[in-house]
Amino acid sequence: MLKVSEITVQYLDHPVGLGERPWFGWKLESDRRNVIQEAYCLEIGADAACSQPVWQSGWVESQESVHVEAEGFAPESCTKYYVRVKVRDGQEESGFCEAAPFVMAILNQEEWQARFITAERPEDKDSSGSTCLRKEIRLSGEVESAFVCATALGLYHFYINGEKIGTDEMTPGWTSYKNHLCYQTYEVTEYLKQGDNALGAMVGAGWYKGKMGFLHLRNNYGERAAFLMQLLIRYRDGREEIVVTDDSWTGHDGPVTFSEIYDGETYDARLEIDGWNLAEMGQAVESLAGQQEQVVESSAGQQVQAVESLAGQQERAVNASDWRPAEMLDFPMSALCAQAGSKVSVVETPPVKEILTTPQGDRVLDFGQNLTGRVQFKVRGNAGDQVRLHFFETLDAAGNVYTANLRTAKEEVTYICKGQGEELYHPYFSFQGFRYAHVISWPGELCPEDIEAQVLHSAMKETGDFQCSHPLVNQLHHNIRWSMKGNFLDVPTDCPQRDERMGWTGDAQIFCRTACYLMNTYTFFAKWLRDVAADQTPEGGVPHVVPDIISGKEEDDWLLSQGTHSAAAWADVAVINPWNLYLMYGDKTILEEQYDSMKRWIGFMRDHAVDYIWNYKLQFGDWVALDAEEGSYFGATPNDLTCTAYFAHSTDLFARIAGILGRGEDAREYGELYEKIKEKFRRTFFQEDGKMTAMTQTAHIVALYFELVPEEYRMQTAAQLVKLLEKEQGHLVTGFVGTPYFCHALSRNGYVKEAYELLLKEDFPSWLYQVKMGATTIWEHWDGLKPDGTMWSPDMNSFNHYAYGAVGEWLYRVVLGIEADERDPGYHHMIISPQTGDAFAFAKGHYDSVYGTIKVHWEKGQQEGERRLYITIPANTTADIRLESGAVIADADGLAFVDQAGVMTAVAGSGTYEISYRKGGEQSC
Ligand code: BGC
Repeated sequence: MLKVSEITVQYLDHPVGLGERPWFGWKLESDRRNVIQEAYCLEIGADAACSQPVWQSGWVESQESVHVEAEGFAPESCTKYYVRVKVRDGQEESGFCEAAPFVMAILNQEEWQARFITAERPEDKDSSGSTCLRKEIRLSGEVESAFVCATALGLYHFYINGEKIGTDEMTPGWTSYKNHLCYQTYEVTEYLKQGDNALGAMVGAGWYKGKMGFLHLRNNYGERAAFLMQLLIRYRDGREEIVVTDDSWTGHDGPVTFSEIYDGETYDARLEIDGWNLAEMGQAVESLAGQQEQVVESSAGQQVQAVESLAGQQERAVNASDWRPAEMLDFPMSALCAQAGSKVSVVETPPVKEILTTPQGDRVLDFGQNLTGRVQFKVRGNAGDQVRLHFFETLDAAGNVYTANLRTAKEEVTYICKGQGEELYHPYFSFQGFRYAHVISWPGELCPEDIEAQVLHSAMKETGDFQCSHPLVNQLHHNIRWSMKGNFLDVPTDCPQRDERMGWTGDAQIFCRTACYLMNTYTFFAKWLRDVAADQTPEGGVPHVVPDIISGKEEDDWLLSQGTHSAAAWADVAVINPWNLYLMYGDKTILEEQYDSMKRWIGFMRDHAVDYIWNYKLQFGDWVALDAEEGSYFGATPNDLTCTAYFAHSTDLFARIAGILGRGEDAREYGELYEKIKEKFRRTFFQEDGKMTAMTQTAHIVALYFELVPEEYRMQTAAQLVKLLEKEQGHLVTGFVGTPYFCHALSRNGYVKEAYELLLKEDFPSWLYQVKMGATTIWEHWDGLKPDGTMWSPDMNSFNHYAYGAVGEWLYRVVLGIEADERDPGYHHMIISPQTGDAFAFAKGHYDSVYGTIKVHWEKGQQEGERRLYITIPANTTADIRLESGAVIADADGLAFVDQAGVMTAVAGSGTYEISYRKGGEQSC
């Protein structure tokens, strides 16, 4: 049976807040093989039954099922639509799929009537406390539908009639605010009622005005946190009303008295203002005052307690009467950009695994997993009692609290009780990187059930899974996924715990492909790449961190003189990440959108290269490689070499991208440039005897992986890499540049066995060493924790740093062999070519491509070299199935394999296949 199993908009399920014309994609399912869509019929309606379609495609003869535009559909702002589709292939027609809703944001700049408002006074510029803003509105009819668009300079929580709107956290995230500020859209029909309603926002400092960057400077983007909101109400009788933030709102200090990204939060529940976000607030104040009069009259001694508690409540409510008028602030409205997906939310809630008492006598909560987020707890105490928790990643060798690697980040959360029964709290405007929490104070009994961790990250669908017969590798995969979760909190960060947490471009570049296998990162990266472009220097240089929080700070003499932008492998994120998104999702719009940014970056390198050798100011080189000189972070591979290798690679990709987008002239020009750089690279970094000038692992890896090695030297270069590996007794000594591609450089050149051996090394330095040392995420350093239990310098020792997790893509692309085909990307046509090695009894996993789920499972047979391979290829896609070199096929399951230069290859349509073969020997070059 042919079925449409899922329909998405811009690759998202049910997006709310699309700022541009939607495009659609769907997944097909069938129990038949070789299913290719012949035509589709798409409908957009105003209700779930699409009873009155607002747009219909009719039957369109087309195989396209993931980038489908609704030509002529003109959506309206702040409107909810439903979309459904049916398809047919050569044999049958599916029914319509269940209609999926999507909601449009504000589609024209001119529609914005709201102004940013603040309750902060100029003298609050050094405060990281919260402010509350409120307005009461009277609705004059029954509400048919209502949508709100909101954002902040800082962070916000928005409430209607006391209820928090949406499940998003840390909104509007961190962007190059003045160029690109996201706003969120919510459907709020259910929250409003005819008559009196209250709108309220609590606003915090966040990345906007809180302390950020190496120098811990405040007010990096502005001195006053502010809020913006526009609410569109459509009444049943057809009238429309727009409510906006303006100076009719009032403001007050909030109960969050301190909140910083690095340092944590202090919340004084005694400062809560009862009913501040309820319409009854004014009435509540009056009624409390009335009640107190009565109590005072009749009490005369007996009712002292009642009077006190009422007085406490009244104080909190009465304070509300001196709310100050909100002030309007100017901000470039052109920066506003609708955000429909990848918003941060609480994704899971691990419980406390254990409460420990350390040898030093500290009480410590262990969540069993290094994670990023916060805790939520229930507590009972007297007014003024405090909960104080200090978060950290690891215990020291003696089992005591270890916080030195947080550097100056305080990571402390303090909650001050109001003393009214059970109180529930989680931080509002801060997050912590931690596995443990040191309980500094806790009123009453500490029960693990009263506390949970709340993992925060940008909401992205998990798309990949991997398992094999080697438990340590499975744990490695788990650790990679958790480092991704820990560092995809609105921007791709280096680490989530110390006083850094910045969007380091190099880390995001090397990890991008792995990330794309693990989760649907399209919206996440597309948003961040806008900031990469926005923060480029006028010359096209790409900052080391995006959003660029470090440039232009005169206080930082060292960085200013060394350079805050344009390091090889870091800045190349501008080209490599859009390219990866294109490969993984097949989407050309990302290439269009980033085209100028890429071109400017290549231009920057060209302008600063000397005779095609590129190098520039501060380079990180093969960062933290172990072949560095004692005490240095910079690996031994010369910068000229790594820089020029990346110059060549990015230029090559750019020329190909220009070709894909039909920009022939650029394709030619940059294709020629690439040839020249490659030629120069070869002449400079290879000697006449074919040896490389730099005898480092990384030099050989990049030359091989970026295909810069003259063909006649390829075997020799690969063999030399193996020798360099042997010299270290099979260990890598590579850093950020060499590590991601090490296994690829080996397995692509016939050294599959060696690649597996490298992956499976268990002693230092290796991926599995950290696993054996109990890691639950990826470490920044190969020896973050040394075999004797001592640690790497606390200066720079994150235990949640995804960079070395970039090996994850090798598990998917090579062990499972699920590979995109550049000529037909997005897995519309794919290459399935698992390299099974000899180390695992089985490996299995899947990748949920935009067309559907691709599955690969292989296992060893009874006889030496025997393999059984199970493959599922989604409907409306095709694959080249390539068996390992020299394979002798026992069962082809109906596929017609042909020998292509020693590799048995079959073209397969969709469906499930079980193939048996016997592996040939290794060495396929
Ligand atoms: C970060 C890295 C980053 C590097 C650049 C470090 O402090 O944590 O991951 O790429 O600096 O040198």
